[in-house]
Amino acid sequence: MKKNSIISIALFCVVFCLSQVKAQKEIYLDVNQPIDKRIENALSKMTLEEKVAMCHAQSKFSSKGVPRLGIPEVWTDDGPHGLREEVFWDEWSGAKWTNDSCTAFPALTCLAASFNPQMSLLYGKSIGEEARYRNKTVLLGPGVNIYRTPLNGRNFEYMGEDPYLSSRMVVPYIQGVQQNGVAACVKHFALNNQEVNRMTINVEVSDRALREIYLPAFKAAVEEGKAWSIMGSYNQFRGEHCCHNDLLLNKILKGEWAFDGVVISDWGGVHNSDQAVNNGLDLEMGTSTNGLTSKATSTYAEYYLANPFLKGLKTGKYSEQVLNDKVRRILKLIFRTTMSADRPFGKFVSPEHSDAARQIAEQGIVLLKNNKQLLPVQAGKYKKIAVIGENATRSLTIGGGSSSLKVAYEVSPLQAFTTKYGADHIVYSKGYASGKSEYGKEAASKLNADSLISAAVEAAKIADIVLFVGGLNKNHFQDCEGGDRKSMDMPFGQDKLIAALLTVNKNIVVILNSGNAVAMPWVNEVPSIIQGWYLGSEAGTAIANVISGDVNPSGKLPFSFPKKLEDNAAQSFGKESYPGDGVNENYKEDILVGYRWFDTKKISPLFAFGHGLSYTTFEYGKLTTDKISYASNETVKLSFTIKNTGKVKGAEAAQVYISDVKSTVLRPLKELKAFSKVQIEAGESKQVEINLPVKDWAFFNDKTQSWVVEPGKFIIMVGSSSADIRQTLPVNVINE
Ligand code: BGC
Repeated sequence: MKKNSIISIALFCVVFCLSQVKAQKEIYLDVNQPIDKRIENALSKMTLEEKVAMCHAQSKFSSKGVPRLGIPEVWTDDGPHGLREEVFWDEWSGAKWTNDSCTAFPALTCLAASFNPQMSLLYGKSIGEEARYRNKTVLLGPGVNIYRTPLNGRNFEYMGEDPYLSSRMVVPYIQGVQQNGVAACVKHFALNNQEVNRMTINVEVSDRALREIYLPAFKAAVEEGKAWSIMGSYNQFRGEHCCHNDLLLNKILKGEWAFDGVVISDWGGVHNSDQAVNNGLDLEMGTSTNGLTSKATSTYAEYYLANPFLKGLKTGKYSEQVLNDKVRRILKLIFRTTMSADRPFGKFVSPEHSDAARQIAEQGIVLLKNNKQLLPVQAGKYKKIAVIGENATRSLTIGGGSSSLKVAYEVSPLQAFTTKYGADHIVYSKGYASGKSEYGKEAASKLNADSLISAAVEAAKIADIVLFVGGLNKNHFQDCEGGDRKSMDMPFGQDKLIAALLTVNKNIVVILNSGNAVAMPWVNEVPSIIQGWYLGSEAGTAIANVISGDVNPSGKLPFSFPKKLEDNAAQSFGKESYPGDGVNENYKEDILVGYRWFDTKKISPLFAFGHGLSYTTFEYGKLTTDKISYASNETVKLSFTIKNTGKVKGAEAAQVYISDVKSTVLRPLKELKAFSKVQIEAGESKQVEINLPVKDWAFFNDKTQSWVVEPGKFIIMVGSSSADIRQTLPVNVINE
């Protein structure tokens, strides 16, 4: 044979062998194969033991992959405001890594207050990038439990009292996270509206309130956001724990909504093998812990979905079909994330993330009151500015429970005011003091309260204006997981302090940090009030930008502020309705949550849902629609103009409510059905066009278990808040 032919044959053999190696690539490893094919292929290679091992934790935050097959572990991490630090394998405490300090984004109440879904997408994208960079499979967030009482210790992690607002805001967050190849885990499904007795309380609520108030945001997260995972909540609903609740998980979530992701238990939320196996749970985490405080007393092999599950499978008590369904879902999650084709690489503590955190914070800050136009305080306007209050310097990213963060940096309000106005113009006094943030313990300061007040009063006396930064913090019994607030009052003697400050200086701006409404006995005396939430790494920058007028505030309240606690719906029915009798709790206010209650019962709140002022003013033009009568399957094309009638540019979140004039069932006086945030230059007008599908005006009929739009007259209302309706227009709904 000629030399050339030998070389050709040899080359052919090499190429042929290589192509054979390629052709032998396992289907489940081939990212070009359809996911379902990869799943079936992987499943066919797994032993019973390997499958069961995937259904429960192997450490505090992770579960097993299949090492033999190269299928990676699932790594979860909190959520929802930034990436929690790394913890030890089997402990809650931080592992003291030096590369895990994250960007803190504003709390979700602030995000909701932005009334801007674009901010939500930016939020999701940014936190998703941080999660991806840290190699996480699942981000434990966002949270969308409805704000039912101002005492709930975890309201700051959620998106307020309105099902429509939270639905619109949760969808882009999920999309943003998941475009990074990281799964969002929407929590806590469902009815986890308080921390008192959270592990045991049994919630009784009507089907109507469940469907109209408590489920819509989860439904939107699943059907529109396409969330890849969801977290069952600690509490019970109709006698079954929500982590293995047949109605919620099997019938509604996986049945009606066709959820194809993984149901993950909250940490320590599983109580029973039979229910865990059969009632829709897929992945069990944290058993034998009560959330954040205790260490596991049982080993991971003893989890309800570990050895007891395996044993039951072997004896025929449990079907392998049920196991396979769980494993298919977990494999799908892995193929959607860590084993997906084009998983981006993420980034961590990037300048873009700081910028995103600042923008979201600026759009969410709410100007509650601004008499005498005390605000804005432009640089150079005053000689002496007294900054008073512990929250002006305290880290508000630490504490609060599982959402506590180890941050790369956090700009405090005092730092930012000093930069903005110059150190010579600032005098700081603490004014009040709380204790150290320790989970599960009520903190008290050793400092003398009266001396703190006297010193603050001296500072206020010599100042032209007082910027008071206070509110709640992330201590136990404040805005913190594991306990509810004991009252609606501001803690640590702040009301007394504000009263004392008012005796020497009337120019006070109160800036509140909280995720909850607080009582304001000084509301009439204080000219300017700002709701400043928990704003994350760029907290100070955003607050100083709004205070100084560099940014015009545009946030709107995502929940109502009652004048007093008893005015709030859940509280109105006594203990049975909140916090329950220790065993059961009956949501007696039914669908009348938040402004639905205040409006319908004609109780005026201190600040209404949707309220938020600007440094400019807006005028709403007449409403027009394409016609006046609609069938229930049609869409109203609504349009109106908004004019900026002031001197500075600003943004207005216009809100569209509907009111069913006559109905066979009780309906709230108004319900939010759309909103649109528009930026408008001073003196200019913008046309707003909104589509309103009439089917969204339905109520849920308990008896027929269906959504009903009754024919008749409806009023479309457009306003600047739920209590400040500027234009109305009646339309008719007719039979199809
Ligand atoms: C919380 C969850 C959290 C989990 C893991 C639980 O105590 O309720 O929201 O994701 O702990 O930290």
